[in-house]
Amino acid sequence: MSSPTFILEQQKLQENLKHFEYIAKETDTQWLYTLKAFDAPQGLDIISQSFDGFSIGNSNELKKIDSYPKHIHSYAPAFYDDEVKTLAQQSHTMSFNSLTQWKHYAKECNTYTSLGLRINPKLSIEQPQYCDSNLSRLGINYKIFLEQYDSFENLEGLHFHALCNQNVNALDTLLHHIERNYQALLPKLKWINLGGGQNFTHQDYDTEAFIIRIHTFKKKYPHLALYFEPGTSVIEHCGYFKCTVLDIIDAKIPIVILNTSIEAHLLDVAITKQKPKIKGISQTKTAYEYELTGMSCIAGDVIGRYQFVEPLKVGDEIIFENMLGYAWVKQTSFNGLKEAGFKIV
Ligand SMILES: Cc1ncc(COP(=O)(O)O)c(C=O)c1O
Repeated sequence: MSSPTFILEQQKLQENLKHFEYIAKETDTQWLYTLKAFDAPQGLDIISQSFDGFSIGNSNELKKIDSYPKHIHSYAPAFYDDEVKTLAQQSHTMSFNSLTQWKHYAKECNTYTSLGLRINPKLSIEQPQYCDSNLSRLGINYKIFLEQYDSFENLEGLHFHALCNQNVNALDTLLHHIERNYQALLPKLKWINLGGGQNFTHQDYDTEAFIIRIHTFKKKYPHLALYFEPGTSVIEHCGYFKCTVLDIIDAKIPIVILNTSIEAHLLDVAITKQKPKIKGISQTKTAYEYELTGMSCIAGDVIGRYQFVEPLKVGDEIIFENMLGYAWVKQTSFNGLKEAGFKIV
């Protein structure tokens, strides 16, 4: 197998998908896979069999799913002027991020698709800043929207993506926000998209509490179609990234140079500032501590210090666990690095 390579473990993906099929059935909700999390065609073929559709943002993403006759939801922080009509023609639902884009495009797009607005509910939930969309430009501030909600002709849906790595309590907060603030509007709408950002496949996610909470909401608003658009939780723990030791430089803590780079293959590590998990390392101190680094010329291309059970040598394989989400899709050829391979096992 070539190195570096991203590896998708098919059986683990199937297990996650079974879980989504279960919650979709129990709650009578619609599930759209968010392409930006991971989009290798072999993976999409499998995911498409269990999901009702896809959530996409532009025509490049649209091309990747054009062989699946499924529900398409389009949303982007801003649509390109020269593709918004095509996206509307191919989408079943579509949401705009701002009042200006709504004013520009809603009239034309309404001929083709069911239109919604992304609302920023400004929830105060504890979550990492890099993905806390409540603090961001993503969506129309709900207070501004509520001042004028009855002026939106042809508005059929609301879109909330306000959570990041959250459990069912955060979803409950979001649903309370919706129940409290949009009472006059909800009877006139057709759908609500509740976004992604929920740890549906985490072992401690309270699935039964989720099902009960959705039932409560649906009882009040049975006419509303509810969409979810998870990304991370679909491919969570379904794959890993494999690379190789190219060199080991003698130092107090020996420096390992890998045939990868944060900037080329592991960009999600940079934005989330996470220390990736590596297979087979020791949780306690050993005699074999190394600083793992990338092969780019950026001095800060440092992955972290790890304790290994045995000494490393040139040619050894290093496996980064749970490394598919938002990593495969963000690859670059920075500094001339080889693109990583992809394999499904
Ligand atoms: C609008 C929207 N929906 C859904 C998702 C998927 O979120 P997650 O991968 O955390 O489930 C994202 C991720 O950025 C998003 O921006």
